[in-house]
Amino acid sequence: MWRVKSLDAILATAEKKSLHRSLGPIQLTLLGVGAIIGTGIFVLTAAASQKAGPGMMLSFVIAGAVCAFAALCYSELASMVPVSGSAYTYTYAVMGELLAWMVGWALILEYAVAASAVSVGWSGYFLGMIEHALNFHWPDALRAGPAWSLNGFVPVADFSHGIVNIPAIVVALAVTTLLVIGTTESATVNAALVAIKVTALTVFVILTLPLMKSGNFAPFTPNGWFGPHGTTGMGVFGAAASIFFAYVGFDAVSTAAEETKNPQRNVPIGLIGSLGICTIFYLLVAAGAVGAIGAQPVIGPEGQAVQPGSAGFQAACHLAANANQLVCSNEALAHVLRQINFPLAGYLLGLAANLALPSVILMMIYGQTRIFFVMARDGLLPDKLATIHPKWKTPHIVTIVTGLFVAIAAAFFPVGQLADISNSGTLFAFFMVAIAVMVLRVKDPHRPRPFRTPAIWLVAPIALAGCAFLYLNLPLESILVLPIWGALGLVIYFAYGFRKSHVGRGLVGEVHELDPDAPPTGLPGAD
Ligand code: ALA
Repeated sequence: MWRVKSLDAILATAEKKSLHRSLGPIQLTLLGVGAIIGTGIFVLTAAASQKAGPGMMLSFVIAGAVCAFAALCYSELASMVPVSGSAYTYTYAVMGELLAWMVGWALILEYAVAASAVSVGWSGYFLGMIEHALNFHWPDALRAGPAWSLNGFVPVADFSHGIVNIPAIVVALAVTTLLVIGTTESATVNAALVAIKVTALTVFVILTLPLMKSGNFAPFTPNGWFGPHGTTGMGVFGAAASIFFAYVGFDAVSTAAEETKNPQRNVPIGLIGSLGICTIFYLLVAAGAVGAIGAQPVIGPEGQAVQPGSAGFQAACHLAANANQLVCSNEALAHVLRQINFPLAGYLLGLAANLALPSVILMMIYGQTRIFFVMARDGLLPDKLATIHPKWKTPHIVTIVTGLFVAIAAAFFPVGQLADISNSGTLFAFFMVAIAVMVLRVKDPHRPRPFRTPAIWLVAPIALAGCAFLYLNLPLESILVLPIWGALGLVIYFAYGFRKSHVGRGLVGEVHELDPDAPPTGLPGAD
């Protein structure tokens, strides 16, 4: 189980597949921005305000900084090993099969659960739009899933404010259908959607910044750094752990390394460039939202700020006095614009979110199927999962299975909890990448490194500590999901992958093509 897949074998496999290298630095940066900007900024700004108040601006800085350190580590590995599979592949080469499997397994949380979170985020904007534009009120029971909380360690669902999120199911299944019939986004469509998102955020900033009132920033950190006594995942650090979701997706750039021209130079540019652009936008948007209408948390029955998405939070938000609070809105940015008397701009921003968020869902589900595909290629998952459809030439089974999982999670969980669960998997993957980059410096110091992480013995430990710190500041239920999910992964590995692994069976070096007509290429933006 500690067997590694040698870096040379990985590179040889990639070369034999000879994917078409078509992406340049600008396309790659756009690909990153396309995958990054989504539910995090459009929706979770509300949950972050509930956790931290105006101090969520600091949370954006903290989460962005952790991602920047992680991106520097990703860049070194992605430039050395420019192949599909990202963190999973690097770990396989450096730390062995068991840990690689665990990373691949955690990436399911990152990609599939993130797709669910973005579907729920889309639903909030969709419902807001039909309500304000058409005056149509969607039935309460069918607009949101239940609120979940822990009773001891037992999850309890509260159905009093929602049973199932129908629009989220519909968008998740619609995107899955597109992927099954072979639709991937062209570079042009991706660029257009990025332009729509960036324009919407720019208009938001231009309209809100002149209306900033200093009073709206006070108190700046009503829940302190760690949240009120007895709560988990609150305060500035709790908000940072949640809003980390807004930055997830930059690693999509590294999964496109196999399709990039001059990847040694362009992948680091794409990773760090897309992250930098998004960080600047996020800080301006957060400042505009807080400054224009304020962002104080709502107080639950016990007299302190309650966890967003919990039953207590739902109850507080249903009080008439809290109806217009930013923290209670499911379409935070459109809500801010309506509150400052720009209803048309609010409507258009909602429309922009409705148009652009499905592409984030598409990239996440697509990324998930690619990771499954690479794991199946290594024999750790059954080949059948990656069967290619004779007509559509897509891995339809794995896509349908992923889509159903995404739709079910989107139907029954609130956006904030989904984002937090996704973060737990992502933070684990980033943590492993930071370890891998250091181990490889020691184990294989002479291998050419087209991009070297600067000050690695400082940067990688900071990335490690940052990921661990954010993970520990997630709400308890999201912290618990990772070890439970991991234990399930271990059982599956020893029952299946351990025996079937191609490395274990000495098949490495052979190119195990599932279908020569449908190589794992065609990432969004690749054509
Ligand atoms: N960063 C992506 C989003 O915020 C996942 O939707």
